Amino acid sequence: MRAAVLEQFGRPLVVQEIELADPGPGEVLVRLVACGICHTDAYTASGVDPSGYAPCVLGHEGAGVVERIGADVTMVAEGDHVVTLFSPQCGECVHCASPDTNLCLAIREQQNLGHLPDGTTRLSRQGEPLRHFMGTSTFAEYTVMPQIALAKIDPQAPLDAACLFACGLSTGLGAALRTAKVRAGSTAVVFGAGMVGLGAVAGCRLAGAERIVCVDLSPQRLELARGQGATDTMTGGEGVVEKILEMTGGFGADYTFEATGNVKVMRQAVEAARMGWGLCTIAGVAGRGETLEVVPRYLITGRRVCGSSFGGLKGRDDVPALVDRFMAGEIDVAPFISHRITLDQVNRGFELMEAHDGIRSVIEF
Ligand code: CU
Ligand code: ZN
Repeated sequence: MRAAVLEQFGRPLVVQEIELADPGPGEVLVRLVACGICHTDAYTASGVDPSGYAPCVLGHEGAGVVERIGADVTMVAEGDHVVTLFSPQCGECVHCASPDTNLCLAIREQQNLGHLPDGTTRLSRQGEPLRHFMGTSTFAEYTVMPQIALAKIDPQAPLDAACLFACGLSTGLGAALRTAKVRAGSTAVVFGAGMVGLGAVAGCRLAGAERIVCVDLSPQRLELARGQGATDTMTGGEGVVEKILEMTGGFGADYTFEATGNVKVMRQAVEAARMGWGLCTIAGVAGRGETLEVVPRYLITGRRVCGSSFGGLKGRDDVPALVDRFMAGEIDVAPFISHRITLDQVNRGFELMEAHDGIRSVIEF
């Protein structure tokens, strides 16, 4: 099959023919139909990611069709439409059993090493194993993944839109709906209007927030935020916290969301949360070794800070439900698909992302 291989950090991906072995026990062969290009792919490709490895096949925002199943597979069947999950849900581990976290423990170590759960790879080239990225490797015509990492979705859902639920969009929606559990009638501020921030704006709207302020540097992105339900927009930078306090009677917002990964913005998100009960949810990923500065008085006076990975969503349960809400017309996905490209144009997709041109480039296979 054809796949985009990260040969060397800091170099463009190389699209080439590689081999993919049959799915083993508990594994599933998926034919990819669409795949978004996300910052995490670029982060690893750049070499900055300390846990990154090369060569490997990147990509984690995939949607496709189950082509074949291995032995003992019960969760999906041939022909099912699926969204790939870098954050799996085994349903059995102590974290899956808890309603308080989505960080499934079942395959973490092997996944972090670029292996499938049995410690080997299905990807290879001239007999040499190639590693899987995030357990997904969706910059390829096909992938083999564990069944616990596939969300079975409505087969009517267009897969070019569904793929965005594999990462960024679900992360933002879940941060509002699942992690923060935004209440109807509340005030929310979302810092950052990329895929995650726009998802958080949409999540706040679905939760019935009365006022949703979105903060970003780009007027185009703030316009998109309005389309997702932001009632107010604001240009980021110095003085944002003061402006938010002014807008909220001097108190701050019931909920704030950080979706930029910038630790200075994270601090603003903490300080813009309301005294007494304001909840700041961190969804952005900070650079290696960076720390978040918080004056403890903000916490003593009732603000809380929490983090959200993949929106706190349990993927196999929650992603299909979000796709259903999209199909019911509650989530407007079309404005997020800025560019449609082929697998051969994958490096163009990275360039567009670096230039902040649009929200998502989607590879169509
Ligand atoms: Cu991602
Ligand atoms: Zn689990």
